[in-house]
Amino acid sequence: GSLQMYVDPLPQMPKIRGYGFQQGRVVPVNLTIGMFQKKWKFHRDLPETPVFVYGQCADSATFPGPTIVARHDVPLAVTWENHLPDRHILPWDPTVPTAIPNHGGVPTVVHLHGSAHPPQSDGSAFAWFTAGFRETGPAWTQATYSYPNVQPPGNLWYHDHALGLTRANLLAGLLGTYVIEKPEVYAPMDLPCNGDDLHLVIADRSFNADGSLYMNSTGAAPLVHPQWQPEYFGEVVTVNGKAWPFLAVHRRRYRLRILNASNARYFNVSLSDGTPFHVVGSDASYLTAPVTVPSLLISPAEIFDVVVDSFASPTAEVEMLNSAPHPFPTGAAPGPLNGKVMKFVVTPNGPRDPPDNSTVPDREVPYAGVASPGPASETRHIDPVTETPRSGTTELWHVINLTGDNHPLHIHLGMFQAVKMQQLLDLQAFAGCMAQVNDAVRCGVDRHAVGPVVTVPEHEKTWKNVVKMPPGFVTTVVVAFKLVDTDQPYPFDATAEPGYVYHCHILDHEDNAMIRPLKLLP
Ligand code: C2O
Ligand code: CU
Repeated sequence: GSLQMYVDPLPQMPKIRGYGFQQGRVVPVNLTIGMFQKKWKFHRDLPETPVFVYGQCADSATFPGPTIVARHDVPLAVTWENHLPDRHILPWDPTVPTAIPNHGGVPTVVHLHGSAHPPQSDGSAFAWFTAGFRETGPAWTQATYSYPNVQPPGNLWYHDHALGLTRANLLAGLLGTYVIEKPEVYAPMDLPCNGDDLHLVIADRSFNADGSLYMNSTGAAPLVHPQWQPEYFGEVVTVNGKAWPFLAVHRRRYRLRILNASNARYFNVSLSDGTPFHVVGSDASYLTAPVTVPSLLISPAEIFDVVVDSFASPTAEVEMLNSAPHPFPTGAAPGPLNGKVMKFVVTPNGPRDPPDNSTVPDREVPYAGVASPGPASETRHIDPVTETPRSGTTELWHVINLTGDNHPLHIHLGMFQAVKMQQLLDLQAFAGCMAQVNDAVRCGVDRHAVGPVVTVPEHEKTWKNVVKMPPGFVTTVVVAFKLVDTDQPYPFDATAEPGYVYHCHILDHEDNAMIRPLKLLP
């Protein structure tokens, strides 16, 4: 039978401060965060589920993990420790290139998604390690990662990145949110704060009757892959580790930092009473001005930071709905289960409720680097040449999507944004040529990329970490390999080994090699 919706309250994950105080001054700290196997209750009526989760100790570990709150310009060191058992709780799949330890254990490595940090702290898929660092991958160099937090403030997340195991390790629960704050600039905007500032980590899952996570490992088709499936879709929608939770709210403003942490499912969320979202940021940056939208299309790994104004409608119960087909955009429409996300139960303000002094700011913080298809130091058609941009520069990439699916592109280190999305005409001829020659210029991309232009949504016109690539389109993105708020180069050596990667953030695609190295030149 299916689970009853809206019976578990929405939790907020524990917060860990990524800085300390000494004599009233903010100082750097070192954190140790572990990965533990434990049991997690996803729903009142579902037996406990074995999960792999992050926490400062097993007891406090949560699905998703704790929220790390870092300060702009205050470096943070994190020692990530693997305390996982010898065997994975999900099927191990040797049919894709994967980390295989000789002595058992679960290979893991942590990537801080959206962050500008040295390559040795990037969480290379080849820098994996098992429990107690008993075994390490070929790119492993250090147990403690350093995050300089020099980029603009915004919303990031951390998650596993082990070779061939990313989809299983995230499915198991190895993910959490990370915030970079800059209070002197952003506090005056009077966004909803403290108890009115909420994280919503959305992730679809499937469960067996005994409560364990279900991951299909029967293969896409006998001749395609014996175990690997092209996309993981679960019919249960979880938010902050609860299946279809509810949240009691008052008639006041709330800030919702929404992360789609699903492996493959896109969400197109809206509120059932028509309350719009005032988008103030996306991924690791703020917008230059808020944008009001009735719904938000959120790809895997994408983040939107929104203000919801008071739930001002007379409706006492407001559902968050999902209308995105899976796979996106041409797959099945969501059904009665995965078409719902959570419910807000509006309760009247009591006399003791504090007044709401928050606002939706009318102006936010501009960035030094204006994104337009203007001067770029390098223009690339993305085909199988390893990319080698220069540190401190901006590039234009034309990303060609010849598949039928939308793919969420993620670039490590570089922040980027779409400036043009143009449909390819005579797609079959172009795709046929690309299949043989694999060279966009020789296949005449400019002759084909002459179809209708789709405008980039206003609320995505900021420095992003994930950009959605529509099928049959050439998407032109501006990629900045420098600090986008100051126009300065990174204050660390971004050219060191093992470099970075860019990839599709549908984890099943990423694990099956839809990922490429990215090596920065001085
Ligand atoms: Cu969010 Cu390479 O990952
Ligand atoms: Cu993909």
